[in-house]
Amino acid sequence: MSTTVNHVTKRFGDLVAVNDLSFEIRPGEIIGLLGPNGSGKTTTVRMILGLLEPDDGQVLVGGFDPHVQPLEVKRRIGYVSEEPILYQAMTPREVYELVASVREIDAETVQQRLERYLSSLDAASAMDAMIATLSRGNRQKVQIIAALLHQPEFLILDEPLTGLDAKAVRVFKEIVALHRERGSSVLFSTHILEVAAELCTTIAIINKGKMVAMGTVAELEKRAQAAGASLEDVFLRLTEEDASVQAIVRRLREEG
Ligand SMILES: Nc1ncnc2c1ncn2[C@@H]1O[C@H](COP(=O)(O)OP(=O)(O)OP(=O)(O)O)[C@@H](O)[C@H]1O
Ligand SMILES: [Mg+2]
Repeated sequence: MSTTVNHVTKRFGDLVAVNDLSFEIRPGEIIGLLGPNGSGKTTTVRMILGLLEPDDGQVLVGGFDPHVQPLEVKRRIGYVSEEPILYQAMTPREVYELVASVREIDAETVQQRLERYLSSLDAASAMDAMIATLSRGNRQKVQIIAALLHQPEFLILDEPLTGLDAKAVRVFKEIVALHRERGSSVLFSTHILEVAAELCTTIAIINKGKMVAMGTVAELEKRAQAAGASLEDVFLRLTEEDASVQAIVRRLREEG
């Protein structure tokens, strides 16, 4: 199942948050949506999910428009949001039961998958605590497991590593890689270059809502080398951050 984002634009008043953005995610691909804070990553994700309607252009998830056939799209997607959006008064066990029931997954399959994810992510201990009482990282784990339970064809991850400890980060990257190897597609939104470079088959660099470069890590690295720079230099330059970062560092030192 492929997802296409076709010349999509989203405005908030005068601000063009996403500006004529196009890319495709095919089965077996992990697209890294890489850009600085405020570059339009979450806005793009929200349009793919059908939570926001594009002002121009169209999103198609497996051929379905998220606004016309939202259920068809939701069925195919697993979503990990930037901020854990979970019912605070529920327990993780209740969240998993709810997901299993809504997604119509049989009890045995749920049990098997839960055992695997709970043990690999060290998330079994707080199954019956209220979510409001969990630590940030443990809440994030609940969100991740809930998004994976139905083995979605398309996994959308918006800064999913926030709050996870080193071991959970390592395990989660492995889970995402396995997911891809089984033919699913993944959209991984992040502002951290290293994470995108390590995990993604293709990196789409966006700045101020616009696509500034897209390619495999090898292609982008080759381009960087040709310019006598590292991939990080190129990322900073493409997102217009190198000059401003240097100026900020200088000012901090002067003021300090
Ligand atoms: N509902 C909204 N109303 C008005 N402006 C919005 C709204 N949502 C996002 N924006 C603006 O759109 C721009 C893009 O925001 P978005 O959240 O997509 O960025 P992002 O790349 O996800 O950033 P971050 O790395 O901080 O998560 C920002 O300038 C933001 O303030
Ligand atoms: Mg965001």
